[in-house]
Parts: sequence; C-alpha cells; structure tokens
Amino acid sequence: MSSPPKILVFDSGLGGLTVLREIVRTRPDAHYVYVADDAFFPYGHHGEDQIIARVVPLVGELLARHVPALVVIACNTASTLVMSHLRNAYSVPFVGTVPAIKPACASSKTKRVSVLGTKGTVKREYTRRLINDFAQGCEVTLVGSAELASLAEAALSGNDVRDEDIAAELVPCFVGSGEDRTDTVVLACTHYPLLLDRMTKLAPWPVDWIDPAPAIARRVSELLASPGRESNEAGAEIIFTSKRPHALSRALMPFFGGRVPA
Ligand code: DGL
Repeated sequence: MSSPPKILVFDSGLGGLTVLREIVRTRPDAHYVYVADDAFFPYGHHGEDQIIARVVPLVGELLARHVPALVVIACNTASTLVMSHLRNAYSVPFVGTVPAIKPACASSKTKRVSVLGTKGTVKREYTRRLINDFAQGCEVTLVGSAELASLAEAALSGNDVRDEDIAAELVPCFVGSGEDRTDTVVLACTHYPLLLDRMTKLAPWPVDWIDPAPAIARRVSELLASPGRESNEAGAEIIFTSKRPHALSRALMPFFGGRVPA
C-alpha cells in the first residue's frame, strides 16, 4: 500500500483547525501536521512586512523538516499577503484561505454583505481587490476585529469568554434596516467559526455566515492524488512554535477526525 499523503496546515494559532476539520472529512486517508505559530500570535496585530518576514522562512523550515505533499495556509491574515512569496520560494503546492467575498455577494439577497476579519485582513490591498472584482452590486462593509481571534482561542482553551465581549466585535457587521439590512457575513478569519454557535445567538438578526473551509477542502482534494482503494486513516501531529506542551490534545481530537494528535 502506498504511504498516505502528508498535508501541512498552518495558522497563527488554533483557528486553522476549522479548516483542518473540513479537510480531514474530505481526505481521512492523509497524514496531518498542524502548525500553530502561537509564538507570533496574533498575526492581526503585526505589520505586513513583519508577517512576510516571519512566515516565509518559517514555512521553509517546516517544508524541510516534514516534506509535505501540500501546504494549506489556513489563515486569512497571512494568505492575503504571503501566497505569492511562498509560491516563488518553494515548489510544493500551496492552498491559501482568503475572504469568501465572491460567493457571499453572489448569494446575498439584500445586497448588503459584511466581511468580518482581523484588522490586518480588512486593510489588505488583496481584500480591496476582491471587493472591486466580485462585489456584484453589493454594498460591502469591512469590519476589522482586534479581539475576536483571541476570544476564540480562549474559548477553545476552556476559558470563560463573556457574551458582551463577543457581541461588541460583531455589532458593526449589522448594518441597515428592513429590506436593506445585512443578510450575509463573511467569516474572514479562520478563528471565528470556533465561536459560530455563540455568534449566531448574539447576532441582532439572523444572517448567513460564510465559512470558506468546505471550499478549501475541495481544492485540497483536487490537488492530491485520489486515495488508494486500501487507504486507512493516517496519523496526525500538532506543533506549537512556542513549544508549549500538548495539554489540549483531547479537546482538539474532533478537529482531527477523532485522532489524538501526537
Ligand atoms: N486565524 C487567522 C486568520 O484567519 C488570524 C488570527 C490572528 O492571528 O490574528 O486571519
């Protein structure tokens, strides 16, 4: 039997697990290496040059150590900046995560869409270009959140996170009234789906939340060779760049399709 393909999934922290979860569902046969660059978290608080200078050599080291068949940058704050640098520097296939503005604008009925991301992501030239190219007549509101990624990390790590703190970050997404109010919110940071149940409860009115993870998983599957007939589930590892111990392993199992990450 041929050895399972190795997929490296990279984020600033635990948010990329929401992308990993979908990829694992699509490709349970692969071996996963999840890397959280928590020593540099949150990326949303760093400047563009700092992020490029951090991520490009770090990914190079990870490629040399793990030799994956494919790398997923499961972070909007990084992907909106570094994808061309990574593709120029390394020959492995890369899949990025960028704000799902095109499908959100295509499906909005009221033509009012909000993009909720880190302060870095909403400032990016890349994000502005997506709006120019794909708004399709929608009014797009960019909402940069300073705290939501950290709140999501805290919640997943078992700490109390207050409803008012989540609600305060969400409120600017809800614009207009009646027939002209926001009906679609793009989750433009991979951490936010970790809080989706609470965000849905705290939202001033119901909206469609657009999470790009299933589309990313489909793209990964297209790029990998099809699984062999005898393929089984392969292993999984999690690496924190801060070198903190894996105290969270059991809580993280559902994201790895039930495997305990080494
Ligand atoms: N998960 C990351 C994203 O998708 C960023 C969170 C952060 O490090 O600020 O944008």
